[in-house]
Amino acid sequence: PEKGLKDYYKAYFPIGVAVSPRMVQPGPDAELIKAQFNSMTPENAMKMGPVHPEENRYNWKDADAIADFAQQNNIKLRGHTLCWHNQTPRWFFTDSTGKTVSREVLLARLKQHITDVMGRYKGKIYAWDVVNEAVPDTGTGIYRKSKFYEIIGEDYIEKAFQYAHEADPSAQLFYNDYNTENASKRNRIYQLLKSLKDKKVPINGVGLQAHWSIYEPTAQELEESINKFASLGLKVQFTEVDVSVYPKEHERRARRDTDKSEFTPDMADKQAAHYKMLFEVFRKHRDKITGVTFWNLTDRYSWLDNFPVPGRKDYPLLFDQNGQPKKAYESVVKF
Ligand code: XIL
Repeated sequence: PEKGLKDYYKAYFPIGVAVSPRMVQPGPDAELIKAQFNSMTPENAMKMGPVHPEENRYNWKDADAIADFAQQNNIKLRGHTLCWHNQTPRWFFTDSTGKTVSREVLLARLKQHITDVMGRYKGKIYAWDVVNEAVPDTGTGIYRKSKFYEIIGEDYIEKAFQYAHEADPSAQLFYNDYNTENASKRNRIYQLLKSLKDKKVPINGVGLQAHWSIYEPTAQELEESINKFASLGLKVQFTEVDVSVYPKEHERRARRDTDKSEFTPDMADKQAAHYKMLFEVFRKHRDKITGVTFWNLTDRYSWLDNFPVPGRKDYPLLFDQNGQPKKAYESVVKF
């Protein structure tokens, strides 16, 4: 198509895509990114594990390749992510004898990490997911019992935001999480963000990951999230959009299911209808939404392949395995 997603949504919000370093090498993926998107997020390259594998050693190669591509092609760049319980190397939490470090040591490491990574991309990354997935899915608690929480205490979150603000005062700072349309989790995330705002912690926005399926969320649930978080004076971004063709209920019967991993015409129709609804809601709330990013480029590769069900392929994106626009693409750009 001669017009890309970014052009259809010019008057609304940037349209982004999660990328691997391989996708920005010359070839069809890079061309598709340039034609369709005006924002990017590194899928893994800036996470603690990949970028900071050992104390005092950084691996900038992949992250640099993505940042360079964004600069050269005038594509906005989001940073992801500075503090997360996953994909964080063991060294972060232990000393040379393997003993768990103190609160002071872990805070110093967190500060060093945030300062170094944000410092390197200062002026090149306009928004950072500072803290990722700190709230548990179930129960009544606000704080996931992660190593950061257990070693530092609940103030690790505000510390991370303070370090980030010092490292790059002009970057927009986000809290990022998933299952935000679940009423209980949404309320607990809201409480966390409200307490940060009340304490004047430098936070600008909330990233709603948006790992959805053709069965959820409803328009009403989605609008409730947008309105509730925006009421805190935070910008809302949808940071990791994908629409799985499988129901969550099916996933509970994981490993015993009979999925054939085929993308059926019925799935294509349901997915197109669901994407249409989602983007109608996004457009309606354009005053609160400052970005929508897809989690991966085409159905040739998605992080949902083999996850959560091993051996099962998923088809959650707007472009098919050959990089061609799907029915869902049409339903997003025709309005
Ligand atoms: C995923 C990546 O897509 C995978 O390649 C990796 O193996 C695991 O992480 N929430 C997030 C993202 O914030 O960083 C995750 O990305 C998907 C869930």
